[in-house]
Amino acid sequence: MLDRIAAAAVAIESDLASVTDAASLERFRLTHLVKKGTLQTLVDDLRSVPKEEKPTVGKELNSLRKSVEDRYTTLAEQFNRTSDVPELDWSLPARDMSRGATHPISAMIDRTIEVFSSMGFDIAEGPDVEDDSHNFGKLNFAPDHPARDMQDTFFVHHHDRSDLLLRTHTSSVQVRVMEAMKPPIRCIMPGRVYRNEAVSARSLAEFHQIEGLYIDKGVSVADMKSTIMAFARKMYDASADFRFRTSFFPFTEPSIEIDMSCFLCSGKGCRICKYSGWLEICGAGMVHPNVLTMCGIDPEEYSGFAFGFGVERVVMLMTGIDDIRLLYDNDVRVLRQFP
Ligand code: DAH
Repeated sequence: MLDRIAAAAVAIESDLASVTDAASLERFRLTHLVKKGTLQTLVDDLRSVPKEEKPTVGKELNSLRKSVEDRYTTLAEQFNRTSDVPELDWSLPARDMSRGATHPISAMIDRTIEVFSSMGFDIAEGPDVEDDSHNFGKLNFAPDHPARDMQDTFFVHHHDRSDLLLRTHTSSVQVRVMEAMKPPIRCIMPGRVYRNEAVSARSLAEFHQIEGLYIDKGVSVADMKSTIMAFARKMYDASADFRFRTSFFPFTEPSIEIDMSCFLCSGKGCRICKYSGWLEICGAGMVHPNVLTMCGIDPEEYSGFAFGFGVERVVMLMTGIDDIRLLYDNDVRVLRQFP
């Protein structure tokens, strides 16, 4: 047996000498290192060696096996490193990496936050699933106000509450902010809102709004106008003109709607502004004293203004996208246009 081991060692040594690349190394492995190969066959035959010789023979065989395996590993590392890797051509142009981009709706919200932050506003958020009191009651909606109607509001079924709904506007967050904070309050509140509306090119049942709130001592209509004008000039058009139209919201008195000269045609009239020269940018007003009282703020001491606008509409004006559904289809051909 010792002679066979010595003979195998010689044969292996001579085969090793002719290993020059990965292919010849593989041939070497198939001859000597597999189950029916030279080494394992010797190990199997160890069984028939007389008991008293086993330790010597076993030791000899083990040391041969160990040294062959070590050398095989070293060669394998060497060949794999050099032979299978194609040579690099450093002059080739890089492959384009497909990167994601911020969705135009998120970009619009981010930019609005940036502009209002620069004016000292904080950001607040509230729950999408609201109760009647935050969405309507404390905003001075009369109990029979049509906005509470099943037609507009998605109500949420809950086993022991009948007042839950999906918020229909971000004004609900105003209420939460006033309940939680003491004036001075300067806050903007972006978020998703829900209305039971038929889906069309102009409207969806789910969209985004950004709400603003400013409460302090002695806040006036002039503060409201100048804040909104400063925002719109920073955000859209530094030389914009404005128009303030009286309006009605239950939670503000007086209420206004604000138009800005069209930033595409500078007020001359174009397709986007429907040849009027004006774009409606938001609803606003002085927070109604009833609202302040219901939210725990004394209207004798404090006053303030609020405003709110829809994000999708502004994104559509600014991008020229004329079907709101394109913003939600996740079609990369559309989204790629807004890197
Ligand atoms: N909540 C109103 C809406 O959904 C928008 C709005 C108008 C918000 C006037 C305000 C505001 O804060 O003062 O149409």
